[in-house]
Amino acid sequence: MTLLDSMPTDCVVSAWNEWDRLREMVVGTAVGANYEPTEPGSRPQRRGGREGNPFPTGPKPQHVIDQANEELQGLVQLLQDWDVVVRRPSPVDFSTQLVSPDFSVENQYCAVCPRDVLITVGSEIIEAPMSRRARFFEYLPYRDIVRGYWKQDQNVRWTAAPKPSMHDRMYRQEFWEWPLVERHKRMHDFEFCVTQEEVLFDAADASRFGNDIIIQESMTTNRAGIEWLRRHLQDRGIRVHAVHFPLDLFPSHIDCTFVPLRPGLILTNPERPILEGEDKLFLDSGWKLVDAPQPSLTNDQMPEFCQSSKWLSMNVLSLSPDVVICEENEHELHELLSREGLEVLTIPFRGVYEFGGSLHCATWDVRREGKGEDLLG
Ligand code: ARG
Repeated sequence: MTLLDSMPTDCVVSAWNEWDRLREMVVGTAVGANYEPTEPGSRPQRRGGREGNPFPTGPKPQHVIDQANEELQGLVQLLQDWDVVVRRPSPVDFSTQLVSPDFSVENQYCAVCPRDVLITVGSEIIEAPMSRRARFFEYLPYRDIVRGYWKQDQNVRWTAAPKPSMHDRMYRQEFWEWPLVERHKRMHDFEFCVTQEEVLFDAADASRFGNDIIIQESMTTNRAGIEWLRRHLQDRGIRVHAVHFPLDLFPSHIDCTFVPLRPGLILTNPERPILEGEDKLFLDSGWKLVDAPQPSLTNDQMPEFCQSSKWLSMNVLSLSPDVVICEENEHELHELLSREGLEVLTIPFRGVYEFGGSLHCATWDVRREGKGEDLLG
């Protein structure tokens, strides 16, 4: 019996996986959002044939913010109808320039995607180091909430992972210049725009399966970051497994690639199969991998300033092992999930796509029923 097993499951912070009955959640906000700046870890590009045109800077237009906020509010309403307690981030001015001893960046980004910044592992909240300069301080909009939980319940653990320097040396600038052929040649090296020296990861590269956590190596998570998480959690009997999706040449955040829906069922991305051999972890424990259908939009049809792919379609949010929330236009996905025996709830969310996320990205689960179990091997 490990220390965590003996923790009460009625702790105000308690979530072990991506699917158990949801009880409390933070939903992001577009208030104060800015365009993400060009920086060593990110080169934002327009879509729909306008790739060559300069990417805008500064605050996002008000109507874009309003549209996303309306959809986020729709999600809040739906969650509340299902008796989920919902919290929202504090407003922050993301237009501020950052200057540290090691870097500067013209503005910050937004608080639409708490998933990228925070992860709950049992009764512990971990603030991720992050990988991009514009997102260095993105934990701030959530600090009042986190401090509140920490004061409210003495069983809550609160950890901020080490902050990387984000110095130029932390990044591999050539990455952005490699033509696609070159990227294909190198796809099995798993070397992206960040080097391996410093500890860094975004929380959204991880996915929780009870006492096992999988985390993908990506543009936003390096091997040192994975190793930090592994050592941090090992004493409590939680195993961290690195996973890879070699055909994703610009990987960032696992929740459009490999999405567990309930014990035994994972929604997979047909264009990004898991590295050969890594599927064994799941198949040997009886999990079924089911490919998502093609999304309703093509990449070119995604909002012009959205930095995520059409696969935001599969960025679904589980309310329980039997109920899942999907974007309303993804009809083929709704049918697939219904055939798998899930109740599918739908809401409009394409306005949030502009900010690079959908339902899973725009949320951070604080409490779900259930406890840590061995579900992988
Ligand atoms: N890189 C992913 C894709 O385009 C998007 C992931 C978004 N997830 C998130 N948590 N922000 O497929």
